[in-house]
Amino acid sequence: MKAIRLILVGPPGCGKGTQAKRIEDKFKIIQLSTGDMLRKAVAEGTPAGVKAKAIMEAGQLVPDDLIISMVGDRIAQPDCQAGFILDGFPRTLAQAQALDRSLKARGLRIDAVIEIRVPDEDLVERITGRFTCAQCGQGYHDRFQKPAREGICDKCGGSQFTRRADDNAETVRTRLKAYHEMTESIIPHYERQDILRVVDGRQGIDQVSEAVSAVVAAL
Ligand code: AP5
Ligand code: MG
Repeated sequence: MKAIRLILVGPPGCGKGTQAKRIEDKFKIIQLSTGDMLRKAVAEGTPAGVKAKAIMEAGQLVPDDLIISMVGDRIAQPDCQAGFILDGFPRTLAQAQALDRSLKARGLRIDAVIEIRVPDEDLVERITGRFTCAQCGQGYHDRFQKPAREGICDKCGGSQFTRRADDNAETVRTRLKAYHEMTESIIPHYERQDILRVVDGRQGIDQVSEAVSAVVAAL
């Protein structure tokens, strides 16, 4: 199968992580979530994690140089040679340009950028209701995506769940502001490259998955 390189873009809570995991399972393309990488670095207390912790808890963007080198190192690894889904990166025009340069230097390019479009007013409920299996990382929602058996992860049977430090109504507003001020400007960048595809993220999770899968299957 040919290597597919995708970007998922959209505001906090639009469903990037949910859909990236589904594409990973269905098309066997690895998910690279910069938020997950940073949370791991914070938990392990690495130098990058120490730098990022307070910035993430405040809902702001971590510095471009930190994130660009983190992603650059990751996508150079052998398991990314068969393709990848970037979830949460790039988030600034400088990050998008750095990614273009680093791929171009190796004769590679992004195949598609999928924008998951959801209005701001729907996002606070999605984010404040989110929880995750502590064992396997499967995402859930208090209302929209409950485990089949309460308290037990559908995927791995785990019974411990976590909620993110930045998933509160106040921080969500800062994250939304960062999205509109810093991240939205990458969309015309990819529109100009003719690789932007827009999916209506207000639909249910399965409907969004169908639309996203149709884009990937057509590549
Ligand atoms: P990150 O972890 O990427 O957070 P985010 O962009 O704010 O996005 P989320 O993970 O909150 O949402 P999502 O779109 O993945 O939604 P999900 O699928 O979980 O980044 C965190 C922080 O790290 C940033 O604030 C920043 O500080 C830093 N950072 C990361 N990358 C960076 C970068 N490149 N540059 C600088 N800083 C960076 O869904 C949300 C909930 O809704 C779930 O509970 C889910 O079950 C539910 N749901 C999903 N889809 C639907 C649907 N269709 N209908 C109903 N419910 C749904
Ligand atoms: Mg996410």
